[in-house]
Amino acid sequence: MKVKIIGITGTGLMGSAIAEKALLAGYSIRLYDVQKEHAEACMKKLNSRLQSLMKKFTASDLSNVQQNTVTLCRDIAGLNECDLIIEAVNEEIELKRKVFTELDKICPPHVILASNTSAIPVSKLAEVTSRPDKVAGLHFFNPVSVMKLVEIIAGRETSDDTIHTLEHVAKQMGKTAVCIKDAPGFVANRLLVSMINEACRVLSEGIADRDTIDTVMRLGANYPMGPLALADLMGLDVCLKIMEFLYAGLQDERYRPPLLLKQMVAEGKLGRKTGKGFYEYPLPPQK
Ligand code: CAA
Repeated sequence: MKVKIIGITGTGLMGSAIAEKALLAGYSIRLYDVQKEHAEACMKKLNSRLQSLMKKFTASDLSNVQQNTVTLCRDIAGLNECDLIIEAVNEEIELKRKVFTELDKICPPHVILASNTSAIPVSKLAEVTSRPDKVAGLHFFNPVSVMKLVEIIAGRETSDDTIHTLEHVAKQMGKTAVCIKDAPGFVANRLLVSMINEACRVLSEGIADRDTIDTVMRLGANYPMGPLALADLMGLDVCLKIMEFLYAGLQDERYRPPLLLKQMVAEGKLGRKTGKGFYEYPLPPQK
């Protein structure tokens, strides 16, 4: 199937970064967020990114982008002209199921519905739609502009055609796609989150301090950043949610969320986005 228009619903950190990548790959974009100001901020960001690219490149370099449009939708029904919709709303299963139910109602049958979920089994989203063959996971990594991987998750009934279409879109966006079977946390988060979980325990048990733990993994295992800095980048609330899904889905002690993480999330220490997590970060000035 040929994709020309991509819809993004949920235009927070991940949704807006995915929208930017898709726009630069030559797709027209439709944006929708229940919080109108999020979608407006995303639109503003995309426009200013285009402006700065226009200065850097010639018009012909950007001809594939210029022909395309970015449209802000007033309601979810505005997404019904898209060929592919990427959902990037909060990591809450009932919310995602509600969004998939609505998208299924408003979209013609050929439209592919993909979720950027970090951990929720795709089949749980597909089952609320009348098109389980056209539902899949399309999992991007943070920061989207630099991370090369996309996990494509095939649900129980996802068709080969849907997977091939998503592989093509990921390639157009400059990503390497890997196809994975549906399971809690897929591959990346199943591995990353167990490391972050263990890092929290090592810290709580006083075996090593924050900087030592991160240094060990950076210099001893050549990770670009240590597990605690990575948790801050991912968002501690996101890490906690992923652990909860994994623990519920796999019933494995390795994924039992550590008390330290629960406490930090309860205190609003969510990592980079709140300026405080395991580390402190300067917050961008309020406009
Ligand atoms: N947002 C956007 N871009 C960023 C960024 C951020 N937070 N941090 C760095 N970058 C960009 C920089 O602008 C720079 O881009 P250019 O090359 O175009 O200038 C590039 O990344 C490299 O940056 P730096 O050289 O300054 O920094 P670095 O070498 O320390 O790399 C990093 C930064 C890319 C974040 C690197 O530390 C890294 O790869 N860390 C691991 C990230 C990771 O594992 N991500 C996956 C998280 S898990 C996930 O996302 C899944 C999920 O479901 C939650």
